[in-house]
Amino acid sequence: MIKNQQQLKNFRYNHERIFNPYRGISTMKKITLAIAATIMMTSPVFAGDAAAGKAKAGMCAACHGAAGISAIPTYPNLAGQKEAYLAQQLKHFKSGTRKNAIMGGMAMALSETDIADISAYYAGLK
Ligand code: HEC
Repeated sequence: MIKNQQQLKNFRYNHERIFNPYRGISTMKKITLAIAATIMMTSPVFAGDAAAGKAKAGMCAACHGAAGISAIPTYPNLAGQKEAYLAQQLKHFKSGTRKNAIMGGMAMALSETDIADISAYYAGLK
């Protein structure tokens, strides 16, 4: 196989050429790629801002309770519910996939960011 220094050098060179995905990419681009990869790995898909969500959830409290626990039997609790599930349901109400006269109207007024923030807020309540 590898008998001398020159062969080792050639092997390393070829190995680099074949297996280094960053070959030919500038250092700046490598740094950018590394940062982008880190952000993608650390942030969850539903990265809502719970503090912003709390401020936006004021109108929801009338039915779902001040702390996400409803006082009305037919109105669901939202506190501690899974964030992705809440976001999905709100999107379904908004699109009409899930039909409810009350929630359809409520969700219509929410943007994608509102939905992410409010979902993060309720998911964080115990
Ligand atoms: C006027 C009362 C009312 C208000 C205000 C209201 N909701 Fe609702 N919400 C309901 C009712 C009733 C349901 C049950 C709907 C159904 O049966 O499909 C519901 C269902 C939901 C669900 C689905 C829960 C689940 O377990 O599937 C979510 C999420 C939700 N509401 C979020 C919100 C948010 C966020 C707001 C404020 C922007 C809000 N609601 C405002 C009455 C209300």
